[in-house]
Amino acid sequence: MAFKSPQIPIIFFISALTFVAGDLPAIPPTTSIDNSTAFIRSSCGSTLYPELCFSSLIRYADTVRSDPVLLAWLAANVTLGRVRSVSSHISSLRHATTSGDSLEFAALRDCAETLADAAQLAKKSASEIGRLAKAETSPEVGWWVSNAQTWMSAVLTNEDTCTDGFSPVGASPLKADVCRRVGSAKKYTSNALALVNKLVSSR
Ligand SMILES: *[C@@H]1O[C@H](CO)[C@@H](O)[C@H](O)[C@H]1NC(C)=O
Ligand SMILES: *[C@@H]1O[C@H](CO)[C@@H](O)[C@H](O)[C@H]1NC(C)=O
Repeated sequence: MAFKSPQIPIIFFISALTFVAGDLPAIPPTTSIDNSTAFIRSSCGSTLYPELCFSSLIRYADTVRSDPVLLAWLAANVTLGRVRSVSSHISSLRHATTSGDSLEFAALRDCAETLADAAQLAKKSASEIGRLAKAETSPEVGWWVSNAQTWMSAVLTNEDTCTDGFSPVGASPLKADVCRRVGSAKKYTSNALALVNKLVSSR
């Protein structure tokens, strides 16, 4: 009895170890994430702002896998979010601004309209890529890609129109704020457009 009793905890310890070892996941799912990371990095390499592209899309690596259509769709969605938020900021600035006859107010009013249109165009572009993602084999694929390109490049044009409208306006905190925010949205738009353009060359 005096010899046998200490064996019980030892046997228990050994079987607990075996249980823990047997419970370890055989292959951690890092390879597909690594692949996806490499895919996002290389796709972003052909955009004008590769670091911004990578940092804004890497969080979706597990969704994107190595699918260029999903990547373009996500980039368009991210862009839509940015354009919407800049657009709503500018329209609240417009409603808060009372000097209705100044050059600055005219530029702000025009910009609010142009960016509201840009948000609609970004939404159309993103949902067109969504159709592509859901039915890649449709004979209309070429048409959808071309629509998505047209609308995303119109977003870029509208953003330019907004900041160009501020050129005759003297320096002011409002002008600096609007141009900085629209300038940032433009980078996202340019990247999304580049990823949509890549769909054409990959087909
Ligand atoms: C990683 O990419 C390689 C080459 O592109 C492919 O053969 C492999 O199946 C991918 N692995 C995973 C886990 O997606
Ligand atoms: C893009 O956004 C739409 C609408 O919010 C959503 O249904 C869709 O799943 C998103 N696409 C991707 C690839 O996340």
